Amino acid sequence: MVVNDDAGRLNHPGALEFFASRLAPTESPEFCNDPPSISTKVALTTNGKPNNTSEKSYDNLQQINNDRFPRIPMTTTQTARAPFNRLLLTGAAGGLGKVLRESLRPYANVIRLSDIADIAPAIDDREEVVPCDLADKQAVHQLVEGVDAILHFGGVSTERSFEEILGANICGVFHIYEAARRHGVKRVIFASSNHVIGFYKQDEVIDAHSPRRPDSYYGLSKSYGEDMATFYFDRYGIETVSVRIGSSFPVPQNRRMMSTWLSFGDLTQLLERALYTPNVGHTVVYGASDNKNVWWDNRYATALGYAPQDTSEVFREQVEAQPMPATDDPARVYQGGAFCAAGPFGD
Ligand SMILES: NC(=O)c1ccc[n+]([C@@H]2O[C@H](COP(=O)([O-])OP(=O)(O)OC[C@H]3O[C@@H](n4cnc5c(N)ncnc54)[C@H](O)[C@@H]3O)[C@@H](O)[C@H]2O)c1
Repeated sequence: MVVNDDAGRLNHPGALEFFASRLAPTESPEFCNDPPSISTKVALTTNGKPNNTSEKSYDNLQQINNDRFPRIPMTTTQTARAPFNRLLLTGAAGGLGKVLRESLRPYANVIRLSDIADIAPAIDDREEVVPCDLADKQAVHQLVEGVDAILHFGGVSTERSFEEILGANICGVFHIYEAARRHGVKRVIFASSNHVIGFYKQDEVIDAHSPRRPDSYYGLSKSYGEDMATFYFDRYGIETVSVRIGSSFPVPQNRRMMSTWLSFGDLTQLLERALYTPNVGHTVVYGASDNKNVWWDNRYATALGYAPQDTSEVFREQVEAQPMPATDDPARVYQGGAFCAAGPFGD
């Protein structure tokens, strides 16, 4: 059984209309050398939202993070910064890649767009199109030359057999980090997935440090990618923000996505914070909008300065017009939904 639940099937109709640019760069990206600075103190609720009455403070968050990470994410001033000279976006022909191709333009003088699939030609001299198979180490090495930061969105984005996942996702993420090391790239944004924790139940609230419970070979590959990010930071100082994207589509398509939905505007804001915030080490965050029924304590995204502007709530009526899944349907039981019932393959 192959599940097409939450990534990769849509061309995101109406995608670009959904994105509204909210951030205008004004300073240069110097995240590697910036001293940590804190512009705001944020009291947090369990879902990572500011709460003025909470006893928890951002200082507590630093302590929590200090206990777990060699370096901690720090909010910068909320002023956005000048464009990077060159950003690499893998997966540029994909659903999110097409959105980010446009929405990331303010943050780079040049965006290098790469995919194994056909990509629409460069529209101007601020785009470069470089086809590449992530499974090809030498090709990835060449792809990464001359870029300042990498947004790694390429790969198989739904559940498939292990053999299909292996080249693109597992070898692919190694090739990206190894090329980053060899070319001195200091920042990677990794498109991880909620499927690294998919076997938690929908009535559980977890955070980015809860033990992973991958729900699929796909989820395992993203879990491996997060470990790769930790290793390359500990060993080589390459910083990563791993974004465990929930469901990033124009609108939530089912009841599960009422909790996991991430608007394109919020995705872009989160990536902007991930690119520009200094001293992130390897920080794992959840990619979700300001949804009402959340399963994820997203305090580390808050610490990056992420403040989602959208909510799935506005779609509740149309989503709840759909039939309710049975009580034992994985779509209703597990955070990872239908991925939890995929496979086996090749029998
Ligand atoms: N859209 C979501 O809701 C969501 C949720 C969780 C995670 N993600 C992750 O975000 C990223 C983008 O998601 P998407 O929805 O745009 O998926 P997508 O499938 O539309 O795009 C992925 C792109 O990767 C490319 N690709 C696959 N194998 C490749 C290879 N060997 N070499 C080079 N390129 C290859 C594909 O051609 C495709 O264009 C993926 O890594 C996905 O796992 C997305």
